[in-house]
Amino acid sequence: MSTSSTRNAVAAPARVLLLANTPRSFPGFDESAAMVAEAGHELIDPGARYVPQDEVASLIEDVDAAIVGGTHELRETALRHAGRLKVIVRQGIGVEHLDVDVATELGIVVSNTAASNADSVADHTFAILLALLRDVIRHDAETRRGHGWDHRPPLAQLAGRCIGVVGTGNIGRGVVRRAAAGFGMSVVCFDPFPDHSLVDEYGARYAPLDELLATADVVSLHVPITPETRGMIGARELALMKADAVLVNTARSQIVVTADLAQALRSGRLAGAAIDAWSPEPCAESELFSLRNVVVTPHVGGNSVQSSIKARTWSVRNMLEALDGRPRDVVNPEVLDTPGLRLESASRLT
Ligand SMILES: NC(=O)c1ccc[n+]([C@@H]2O[C@H](COP(=O)([O-])OP(=O)(O)OC[C@H]3O[C@@H](n4cnc5c(N)ncnc54)[C@H](O)[C@@H]3O)[C@@H](O)[C@H]2O)c1
Repeated sequence: MSTSSTRNAVAAPARVLLLANTPRSFPGFDESAAMVAEAGHELIDPGARYVPQDEVASLIEDVDAAIVGGTHELRETALRHAGRLKVIVRQGIGVEHLDVDVATELGIVVSNTAASNADSVADHTFAILLALLRDVIRHDAETRRGHGWDHRPPLAQLAGRCIGVVGTGNIGRGVVRRAAAGFGMSVVCFDPFPDHSLVDEYGARYAPLDELLATADVVSLHVPITPETRGMIGARELALMKADAVLVNTARSQIVVTADLAQALRSGRLAGAAIDAWSPEPCAESELFSLRNVVVTPHVGGNSVQSSIKARTWSVRNMLEALDGRPRDVVNPEVLDTPGLRLESASRLT
């Protein structure tokens, strides 16, 4: 794939549309707005709300860049009005709220803030895993009621046990590091693109998914949602897991067949689950909510002061570098080789 073209970069000032239904008081918003102003560009901010797509369609007509955060969407109907738009930057990782295929067809670069919240999600993986294995939620409630000392069944520990990490990208790597170096766990991984540094530095080994499922005491999911990963963990896969194993999903809900997971948990086929990803979101009800051997959180894995600052400021950094002809963290790299590419002088950084 070629990584450069010969056209010129965008001259300032550019018009930048912010679509984010995230409070502007979140860490990093002020800094990111200042970065846009310092670069001499104009920020168009319709406020911390979900802007309907027909309104987006009129706002986006004469902008050069769009930054999309929270659960805000940027869909085909609006994109088709974006005659000047050259780059979309997602404040975060997952791009399912954007019609990436349409952006590619129109010659628009889509970028995300890869790894901006990887440490936060890796931390959260262990937060809900340990809450499950150490029965923290029940112990907290019972201790406050004065009954914490009444009933103390044996709990599980992590040291000496095996974690299976499905997907060893930015978050999966953080989980491997914490598991091996911090908790003294052995690590088995599954990913079509193995990271050999995890083998060399942390003694991890790569194995087929079925072998990972049959081996691990903890199975933790860190793959994106794709046609291959949708429903990746269903009844057959759950049946391969050890009866005292637990499943952690901080990735995306649709990777797991929820009805099959609930059945495995109810029947005792699987010891427990810790879940931070839901469908739909927000999720008002789930058959998992009534189960004792499940710990749930409302998709807050990526949420931290530190990751918020990174996502906001990195989104502006990526936008500025793209407008300067150096797009990075490109989600649709194939667009860089199309004759219709709207960014000028594009040479990819990563
Ligand atoms: N809970 C949260 O708040 C939160 C926050 C950020 C990201 N996420 C989710 O976490 C997941 C991972 O994010 P990331 O930043 O590490 O992504 P990443 O792109 O850095 O890594 C994904 C890894 O999955 C691997 N992969 C892709 N398809 C696979 C398959 N079929 N089988 C096995 N491995 C496969 C890729 O090779 C890659 O190594 C995504 O689903 C993302 O949406 C959740």
